[in-house]
Order: sequence, then C-alpha cells, then structure tokens
Amino acid sequence: MTVERNRAQERGDVVVVSNRLPVRLVPGARTPRFEPSAGGLVSALKGVEGVAGWVGWPGAPVAAGARRQVTHALAEQALHPVFLDADEVEGFYGRICNDTLWPLFHYFVDRLRITEASWEHYVAVNRRFAEAALAVAAEGARVWVHDFHLMLVPAMLRAERRDLAVGFFLHIPFPSSEVYRLLPAREEVLRGLLGADYLGFQTADDARHFRSACLRILGLDSQPDSVQIDGRAVGIGIDPIGIDTVSFRDAARDPETADVLAEFERRYEGQTLVLGVERLDYTKGVLQKLRAFEHYLEQDPERSRTTTLLQVLVPSRLESPEVQAQRDEIERLVAAINGRFGRPGITPVEYIHRSISRSELVATYRRADVMLITSLRDGMNLVAQEFAFCQTVPGLPRRWNGVLLLSELAGAAQVLPGAVLVNPWHVGGIVERLAEAAVLTQEERKARLETMASRVAQLDSRRWAATFLSRLDTWARRRRRSRVATPLSEASRRRLVKRFARARKRTILLDYDGTLRELTAHPELASPTAEILDLLVDLSALPGTQVHLVSGRDRATLGRWFGSLPVWLSAEHGFVERVPGGAWRQLLDVDLKWLPRMERVLRRVASEVPGTHVERKACAVAWHYRQAEPEYGAWRAKELLLMVEQLLPGVPAEILLGHRVVEVRAVGVNKGVYVARLFPHGREHNHLVLAIGDDQTDQEMYAALPPGSSSLHVGTGHPLGPTRHQHQLPDPESARALLRELVDVVRPTA
Ligand code: UDP
Ligand code: G6P
Repeated sequence: MTVERNRAQERGDVVVVSNRLPVRLVPGARTPRFEPSAGGLVSALKGVEGVAGWVGWPGAPVAAGARRQVTHALAEQALHPVFLDADEVEGFYGRICNDTLWPLFHYFVDRLRITEASWEHYVAVNRRFAEAALAVAAEGARVWVHDFHLMLVPAMLRAERRDLAVGFFLHIPFPSSEVYRLLPAREEVLRGLLGADYLGFQTADDARHFRSACLRILGLDSQPDSVQIDGRAVGIGIDPIGIDTVSFRDAARDPETADVLAEFERRYEGQTLVLGVERLDYTKGVLQKLRAFEHYLEQDPERSRTTTLLQVLVPSRLESPEVQAQRDEIERLVAAINGRFGRPGITPVEYIHRSISRSELVATYRRADVMLITSLRDGMNLVAQEFAFCQTVPGLPRRWNGVLLLSELAGAAQVLPGAVLVNPWHVGGIVERLAEAAVLTQEERKARLETMASRVAQLDSRRWAATFLSRLDTWARRRRRSRVATPLSEASRRRLVKRFARARKRTILLDYDGTLRELTAHPELASPTAEILDLLVDLSALPGTQVHLVSGRDRATLGRWFGSLPVWLSAEHGFVERVPGGAWRQLLDVDLKWLPRMERVLRRVASEVPGTHVERKACAVAWHYRQAEPEYGAWRAKELLLMVEQLLPGVPAEILLGHRVVEVRAVGVNKGVYVARLFPHGREHNHLVLAIGDDQTDQEMYAALPPGSSSLHVGTGHPLGPTRHQHQLPDPESARALLRELVDVVRPTA
C-alpha cells in the first residue's frame, strides 16, 4: 500500500474507474497477453494525464490460479483488474449492461430486455469496483467513474469516504425521463449517480434529461448547474468528449501510415471512397447506411464503377444474440448489394469485420472522400472527430478533401458545425446528401473541414479531462466548505439520547408535514397514523416533558387531528395557539385587507394549472403545485412570484416559498413568534430543547430557539436556506424512530 501511495503521488491523484481497462486479455493465451480494447471510452481516456491508477475488468475470464500473474503484469501500467466470474459477466455485463441499459439509454425500447433477477449482479459488481477503487485511492484523491456500467459506484464511494472527490462521466446519451422511467431500478440508479460531487454529460440534452428525471422520479428540484440531495449540491455539466489529438497527429505522420496510404491510393485510384468505421452495434445504423448506399447505386448503377463503400466493423459484444443477428443481417445485405451491382473486378461494398491497426485507420481516414456516419443514437461518436482531424493534419499531402456526412442523432452533430447532417431514418435524404457530397467544390470541403478541425482541437481529450477534473475540484471544494446540514452521526445521536435521558425538563417542538408524517399528494390525505398519535402521547407522558406541534396548517385541521391529545398546538405559522384542552388564541393583530385580492390571483392560476389548488388560511393564502406537471408547475410558480411581487409594495404581506408551495402571508406571522414566547427567560439549566422541522418555514422556528437548544432537519431534497450548522435525518420515518428511542430511553419498554 505504501509503495502504491508513493507511486500515486508521482503520477497524480486521479483514479479512473471504468468497466474496461485500456487493454484486454487475449483469450486462450498461455501467459497473459494483452491487446488494446475497442471503443470510444478507452480511446479518449488513453491520453489523459495525472492518472495514478485505473480500475477495470480485464475483459476475459481468468482462472483463480492465474489471477496473481495477471495482476502483476497489469500493475506495471498502474492498471488494477477487477476479476469477474462467468455468472457475473453474464448477469452484470450481458443482461443488465448490454440487454437493458444500453438499449434503454439509446432509445431502443423495442430491444429492451429486463431480467430483474440479474440486477443483484449489477449491484454486487458495482460494489466490487467501488472496493477496488477505495483500495487504490489515496487520502483526498479524485476518483473518476465512467459510464453506464458503474452508475451505483459514486454513492458507494460517498458512503465510505467523504475525503474523496467523486466525479462521474456518462459516455452514452441520458434518455428522456419518459424512456428512462421504464427502468425498474430507476430510483436506485439516480441515487447512485448523485453520490458524485460532479456529473458530466456529452450534450446539453443529456444533462437536461438527467435533471428532469431527478425531478420527476425523485422529486428533486435542480438549478441549471446542480441538483440538491442530502444537503449537498451535485454539480451537473456538459463536457463533450474529444479525441487524443497528439496520438492521431503522430500516427498521421508515421511512415508506416504513409505506406498504407500509398497502397490505398493505388487501390482506389480514380474512385470516390465512402468510409464507415464503427463497432458492430445496432445503435450505429449500419443497415440504414447500407440501404442508403444501395439506393444511391440504384439511382445510377454507373456509380458502382466509380464509388466504393469501405465498411469497417470492429467486433464487439459478440456474445449478445442481438449483435449476432445484426451481424448476420449486415452480411446478407452486403452480399445482396455486391451481388446486384458488382462485376468482375468491382466490389461496391468492401466489408472488414475485425479491428484494424492505428496506421490502417488513419490512412483510411486520410484517403476517404466521404465519411458516412448514420448512428441511430450515439453519445458522441469519436470516429467523426478522428476523420475531421486526420483530414487536416498540417504538413501532409492530400488535405482538405473529405466530406463528413453525420447523423444528427449523434452527440458529435452538436459539436461539429462543418458536418453535413443527415437523419439516419430518411434514406432518401442520405442518398441526396451523398450525391451532393460527391460534387462538393474544393473550397466548400475546405471551409467545412476548417471549422471542424478547430473544434476538434478544442475538444481534445487531454483538455476535456483537465476541464472535467477542474470542475470536479470546484464542486468537491464547495461540498467540503459548505456548512449545510450533515447527516446525524451515530456519535451525535448517542449524545442527544443521553442528554435527553438526563434532562430534568424537556421541550420538544415538532413540525408535522414532512417531519412527523410523509408528504402526500393532497394535504387532506396526510392525517396522522396510529403510530404518530401513540408517539405523541408517549412523549407527552414523560416526566417534565412538553410536546408542541408547530405547524403551518389551519387550526380546524390541527384541532380535529390532535385536539384530544395532551400536546400544545401552534397553527397557521404561529398565528394562533392552543394549550392542551384549551381554546384557540390569536397571538398577533394583523391587517388582512390585501388577502381577498391575493386569493383571487392565486385561484386564477390554480384554475389554469391542472393538479394545483389554493389553500386559504386565517392570515395567509397558499398555492400548492406538488401534483402539477413538475416543469410546468415550476415555471408557473416563477411567473406567479413575479405577479405577487408587483402587488406587494405597501402591503403588509410577504412571500414564503415552501416545498412546491407559494404562500403569501401577513408580515410578522411566523413560527418564530410562537417559539420565542415559550422561552421569555431563555433555557433553564438541564432543560433540553429539541426542534425538528423540514422546510424553509422551520428555519424561523430554529432561529427563535434559546441558546443551547438542539435542532434537526428532516429530508434532503431542497435547499435549507440561510441556516446554522445542523444535523439532518433522511426522512420522517427516521425522525419517528429517533423520537421512539427518546421515549424508550426515559421510559424503558416492559
Ligand atoms: N477503433 C477501435 N478499433 C478499430 C477501429 C476503431 O478501437 O479497429 C476506435 C475508433 O478509433 C474510435 C472508437 O473505436 O476511437 C469508436 O468510438 P466511437 O465514439 O465512435 O463509438 P463507440 O465505439 O464508443 O460507441
Ligand atoms: C461504448 C461505451 C463504452 C464501451 C464501448 C465498447 O463506447 O460507451 O463504455 O467500453 O462502447 O463496448 P464494450 O462492451 O466492448 O466495452
């Protein structure tokens, strides 16, 4: 471990965690032999600097007896293998990653296969990766988790080590919440991701979809650049990935590439070369591309003499029946096109189904006249950037020649303004663009490539990584410095219970909705359960103990629900109070002439926004929009705020923003008014005062507590407002559990 740490310091502190390592074991070799892994993730990350270690799967099963040897061989490159047995590969990688998450996140709902029993493999394998990362990460290190295979890892790291800065980057699209919600584990996955300090996405659409899923599925409000959870802000950013331009420039200048290129020049002399390079994957739209090419030849069969489509398909996930079926279909179509349009010496579609070397790849990029990319959905598509870059490497012959035809459904379409965009489902459109590309003037080709080349240079994967990591630093620093609530630790909980047990006198101040009782769709549905009523009775029965319910609810409801209990009631945000068994008493004199007009405004909005309603209280009126379509509700709330603000000057009323509630209430009426009156002389010696609340209105209650009191905040999803350092409980259930513990410590159960 010490050696490991020293090495980590030399190399930087970043620990990369991804399903695949940059190399994979060659299956069947006697001694461990490795070959490069395929795909965009590995190819972009290879050039990233400051990596202390990379945790990942070596890509093939390794017998228990051979694991030490493999670990040793990889350690030289600071690679840390996570070995998976056959069942794990099948359940985690095959069933969940490839059959469920991959199609779902790429909008292939018809290919979605859900094997609920395999989910436990996903959880267990994520845990293995998290443990491996924890073993490698030095104190305060940055752990950078990648892609859809490992979406639970950020929360697993967060739970174990608060010192780590945890970042996550999603290489594939994040789908609309309408599609994402089909995932049975949708909540768990969102919570897993939100364990990070910073989450990066390829495009603004992906980030927007993620925020919308947080809102609709977890009920979490967000800012454009962050989501609040557990009293932390999780940063959200758009970080389109780029290519390792240094290694592509070197490869382009390599004499071996020049030799391969010279050979291509001879072979395709006088030909228009259309190029396709992708992993064999149904998301890449290779069938659509072949059909378009077939139509292109059909339109003018003479084109088969002058145009060749060279299609490179890199083998990938061949265990999957979906992929095998796709390969068979592609091969049938290639054979059909060649059968129809080929002649002796002419093969319109050349098809290579294997990985190709870097020199071959770069030489084909340089020789191609048209790069044709028809992905049906793609996180980024680095091939598009590689082509644009290789076409423009300075100091080499045959530059500025190629045209990029790019699917508008690939992330790359949003970062490469010089590409000619195509809708991959519109075969006729692709055919037209192909015909236009073949005759595009040299000036236009050059102009388009120039704009792309400068964007590709900006997106370079080293810069991308540096930007991502500096954003991660910013968000991790904010979390470390923030003074918002922290979860109630076991030690603090024990201290509180002990003080409670020893106190001579106890005053417990409890908010109701969201604190003692879970929030419900409609306030009327949140009546107290038997558990809550028993708890209040038992607390009140403790010697020297007063229980106060301090709520924003109207007096009639509180009276109906709690009037017969031995508890003190404060209703309507401190406007009225009632001692046990007594009558309601108004605490303040207020001017309410503004109220009817305000109520009319709120009622008009409620009539326009389905699912919302108005609650009229003695000195306030509230518009509740919890049941509204979340984004529309939030938008109308903002608009309503502006409207109300215009009505307020000179009026003794103020706005209060609760949890999906906009309330306008008389000035000076707040929970603090009630609480302050309870302690005219402060807190006595050995008098325990404990307040528990859940939203902004409770801040006024905490603020009015005498010095030395304790306060706890329930819930995680919303900002706490200007607060002092506080402890937090995750939900009402845990608040009830704590209160029950307090009862039991004073009055042990029989
Ligand atoms: N690539 C590869 N092996 C090859 C040919 C290409 O690994 O034989 C690389 C290619 O250079 C590119 C990556 O595979 O960097 C494909 O990335 P892309 O983003 O286009 O798609 P992904 O495979 O990640 O879905
Ligand atoms: C995509 C994914 C990567 C993955 C790659 C290759 O690029 O985003 O995470 O590594 O495909 O797929 P494979 O299943 O072979 O790792």
